Amino acid sequence: MPADLAIVVLAAGKGTRLKSERAKVLHQAGGLPLIAQVLRATAPLARGRRASAAGVWVVVGHQADAVRAVVEPFGARAVLQRPQLGTGHAVAQALKALPRSRARVLVLPGDAPLLRPETLQALVRVQAESGAAAAVLTAQLEEPRGYGRILRSASGDVEAIVEQGALRPEQSGLREVNSGIYVFHRAKLAGVLGRLGRDNVHREYYLTDAIQLLRQGGESVAAHLAREADEILGVNTPAELARVDTVLRRRKAEALMSGGVTLYQPETQAIDPDVSIGPDTILERGVELRGATRLGRRCHIGASSILVNAVLADDVSVKPHCLVLNSKLGAGVSVGPFAHLRDGADIRAGARIGNYVEVKKSVVGEGAKAQHLTYLGDARVGRKTNVGAGTITCNYDGVNKNPTVIGDEVFIGSGTELVAPVKVGRGAYVAAGSTITENVPAGALAIARGRQVNKPGWARTRRQKLAAAKAQKEEPAAGVRLAAKNKAARRARRKPRRRPRRR
Ligand code: UD1
Ligand code: CA
Repeated sequence: MPADLAIVVLAAGKGTRLKSERAKVLHQAGGLPLIAQVLRATAPLARGRRASAAGVWVVVGHQADAVRAVVEPFGARAVLQRPQLGTGHAVAQALKALPRSRARVLVLPGDAPLLRPETLQALVRVQAESGAAAAVLTAQLEEPRGYGRILRSASGDVEAIVEQGALRPEQSGLREVNSGIYVFHRAKLAGVLGRLGRDNVHREYYLTDAIQLLRQGGESVAAHLAREADEILGVNTPAELARVDTVLRRRKAEALMSGGVTLYQPETQAIDPDVSIGPDTILERGVELRGATRLGRRCHIGASSILVNAVLADDVSVKPHCLVLNSKLGAGVSVGPFAHLRDGADIRAGARIGNYVEVKKSVVGEGAKAQHLTYLGDARVGRKTNVGAGTITCNYDGVNKNPTVIGDEVFIGSGTELVAPVKVGRGAYVAAGSTITENVPAGALAIARGRQVNKPGWARTRRQKLAAAKAQKEEPAAGVRLAAKNKAARRARRKPRRRPRRR
């Protein structure tokens, strides 16, 4: 960034037209708050040779603390504007906070998330090369309603900006609009800001009036027409928010596709800006990739799966309808369908996590399997261990979370409960249906369940009793007869008593 340039972002307004309590610039589009999108567009300019956005000031007001919390991690400084008396008033507050060395100011609104860094750089160049007191970024819009219009003289010079509410009938055909983005000669801007009036529908100090004042003072004003009109779109209404979100999502999808990623129906997917994906990876319909998710090569993500801050190595398969949060999947891992991995699940290479399996804060070793209906929480599962269907680590005792440690090549039978803290040694077997409360030594078989008792003929007797009771209810005499008959039959069936065996 030129050392004499300051960047000022206006973000103090409420955004009345969104009809929301939340400050407009905190609403999200393309996976980030609007203000964050704008700061990202300024980053290449702000950074320059130094790795910080130290040259950026953000004017905050409505929900100032929440906006400050979003912008400060970018290295931007907040300037408070209270009350909010318009864009001209906002810039005046910022100028007071700037060090003297900043002789030029790039002003932009916090609600224009489609801006590209190259466009801002071009505007900065136009102002520098023309030496004008101000350079305005403009665009030709088919639907210019709501924007300030650029008024040019017969010779094409910018004379003024007229807000929608002040347009005269003969000006209503003007299609060239003000983006709200300008580069000003700082001292010259300061010279006219004090003379802004509030004689308009909103009773506000309009920054746009500074253009006419500069011209009247004999200064020149340059304009730079944005090549893509879309870039300057501001977000004022919920419909516009949805529209810019779509544009940002499409941009991300196009960048990924040009890197060799296959997207099925990209318009149904949502991929955040920081997500990276290796070539030959396929995303099915409705996939969402959020936050700092990274996918390797040749991965396949099934329909409607949602991955948040997930890191996947190469050749990972996530079947449809999975939720993967803050977790790591090694090479060749297979997950789902309908799996839930969260809070630091670490699934090592070649492991398989099947349907209706939940894994929380657990390591699942290389080649291990938990294929069906299982909960693994605070667990370590060894290499090539098989966790049977319906296994549950009982990690919570009502107060603490306790660990379960299962060694390599262990076989856990289906329907096992592992009451933590507990360890199962390497190579051990646990019989199906066990409730394991004590450590299992390596190589042992643990069976922890009630012994089975079979009662021959029990079911038939039971049915007869039920039938008698039913008959008695309907016809008492017959019921008594049937009961007597049953009793006799039972007696006849009973085996004669065995004599005690002789020794
Ligand atoms: C503004 C311009 C208009 C331009 C349009 C482009 C003015 C008077 N009009 O209109 O010519 O076409 O942007 O999108 O400048 N803000 C503050 N403090 C305030 C008022 C606003 O910080 O007191 C901030 C808002 O938070 C917002 C930005 O300034 O981020 C622009 O304000 P907004 O009310 O959206 O201006 P528009 O009516 O869109
Ligand atoms: Ca706006």
